[in-house]
Amino acid sequence: NFHGRTTTIISFSSESNSKDDFGPHTPGFISVEFGNSQAVEDAITKNTAAVLFEPIQGEGGIIEPPENWLPDIREICDKNNVLMILDEVQSGLGRTGKLFAYEHANIRPDGLILGKALGGGLMPVSVFLSSEEVLQWMNPGSHGSTFGGNPLGSAIAKRSLELLEEEGLIENSRVMGDYFKQSLLELNSPIIKEIRGKGLWLGVEIDQSYITGKDLSKLLLKKGILCKETRDTTIRFAPPLIINKDEIDWGVEIIGSAFKAIEEKA
Ligand SMILES: Cc1ncc(COP(=O)(O)O)c(C=O)c1O
Repeated sequence: NFHGRTTTIISFSSESNSKDDFGPHTPGFISVEFGNSQAVEDAITKNTAAVLFEPIQGEGGIIEPPENWLPDIREICDKNNVLMILDEVQSGLGRTGKLFAYEHANIRPDGLILGKALGGGLMPVSVFLSSEEVLQWMNPGSHGSTFGGNPLGSAIAKRSLELLEEEGLIENSRVMGDYFKQSLLELNSPIIKEIRGKGLWLGVEIDQSYITGKDLSKLLLKKGILCKETRDTTIRFAPPLIINKDEIDWGVEIIGSAFKAIEEKA
């Protein structure tokens, strides 16, 4: 699991490169296997405040949990009077073809963390959303920060949300994401072991005997395609939500010819 690099949350991370050597760590976090609802239930004690996770893991390699995982966790949290908090910093705001990834499971979390796309590519802005019942314990100014509540950031975030709806970007993510996934599958490349993800957020699991994820990312960058490897073997594609069919065709052609060249060399 990975929820950023601020001091407390790195204590919860299982990513050693963002955790090790950045101590002292904050105690109180218990990590369990992603997708294992029994493990979550077993880890809850009378002192547990919340269960926090990404509905689809980003840095983890675009890992989708079993279908019933979110409803199961919702039920476990309700039963134990524990908050269910979702980190949708990567998966949220149309990325998976829904406004929020949790909507694929028809549940509602008690808390939601958003960032990245919220700033529309212009402003660094992030938010924590929750109900009045939860937020009543924080009054204006009681949990402030120098750049928190920035008026320009807030205005840009509001406009970014409006544009998602006005320009049909969520639907475009769903339709273009399906098209992108299908086009990659049709390459029929032995380099591709699996394609995971929803909407315009795809994790392509590659066969490392051909090329490493990092080298493939660097190669595609030289050809004009910006993507990023995670966990050595997954290439993460997260194109802009405004992408159209012609641009996907252009990208898939380049990816396809890069794969062909790698296959021929192997
Ligand atoms: C899933 C996830 N959560 C939260 C964050 C926020 O990280 P930070 O607070 O370090 O900006 C990130 C940043 O990459 C992220 O990927």
